[in-house]
Amino acid sequence: MSDILHLLGIEKAYNRGQPGQIEVLRGLDLSVARGEVVALVAPSGAGKSTLLHIAGLLDTPDSGHVTLNGADLTGKSDHLRTTARRNDLGFVYQFHHLLPEFSAAENIVLPQLANGVAARMARARAADLLDRVGLSARADHRPAEMSGGEQQRVAFCRALANQPALLLADEPTGNLDPQTSDRVFGVLMDLVRETGMSALIATHNLDLAARMDRVVRLESGQITAL
Ligand SMILES: Nc1ncnc2c1ncn2[C@@H]1O[C@H](COP(=O)(O)OP(=O)(O)OP(=O)(O)O)[C@@H](O)[C@H]1O
Ligand SMILES: [Mg+2]
Repeated sequence: MSDILHLLGIEKAYNRGQPGQIEVLRGLDLSVARGEVVALVAPSGAGKSTLLHIAGLLDTPDSGHVTLNGADLTGKSDHLRTTARRNDLGFVYQFHHLLPEFSAAENIVLPQLANGVAARMARARAADLLDRVGLSARADHRPAEMSGGEQQRVAFCRALANQPALLLADEPTGNLDPQTSDRVFGVLMDLVRETGMSALIATHNLDLAARMDRVVRLESGQITAL
């Protein structure tokens, strides 16, 4: 199977069965091919984060199938889902979520150690990634000592630390000013292209979306091509 991600018939509602029930995803289908970079565009509240959390195995759909790297993870144990998440996925949030007590390099080393990589190799990979995003000089700085754009570049490195097959990014430049956003996004795209990774990237920004291979729109809980 050539798709890295396949979502089939995904349904998700919040406050199910209650008066305020919100049906966010309504039988959504979406595939991402290996090596493909897909932009997910939709207005605020349409369900982008909900979709990415389901694709990222951080949340489960009410019904439907999530197939990642050829494995259908529907109804699988937490253990299997966690393993799949560690092996196959990198996640970038709108706000970086870096560990404040640790340096930039340590933030990139730690997920590798959790994945069984030897410390020396993990440090070498962190140094290489920081170099690629132009932050070698900031390796020993904590997040609070860096600008928003720098923190987000570190977050990209962290997401790519374990060489995931699929990168999921939830408005990765959403809290940056337009100029910084443009530059930082370029860094992310270079990293993705260099590694031949697949990616699903939510964004409000149609200019950024146009730089990806394909643009899909999330509308009324389903995917429509743009
Ligand atoms: N935990 C929750 N409980 C109840 N409703 C929720 C919850 N999470 C999200 N929602 C609702 O589901 C809908 C989709 O939310 P989601 O965060 O997926 O949208 P989004 O497209 O990511 O929006 P944004 O662009 O603002 O980040 C919204 O109406 C939101 O209010
Ligand atoms: Mg969101």
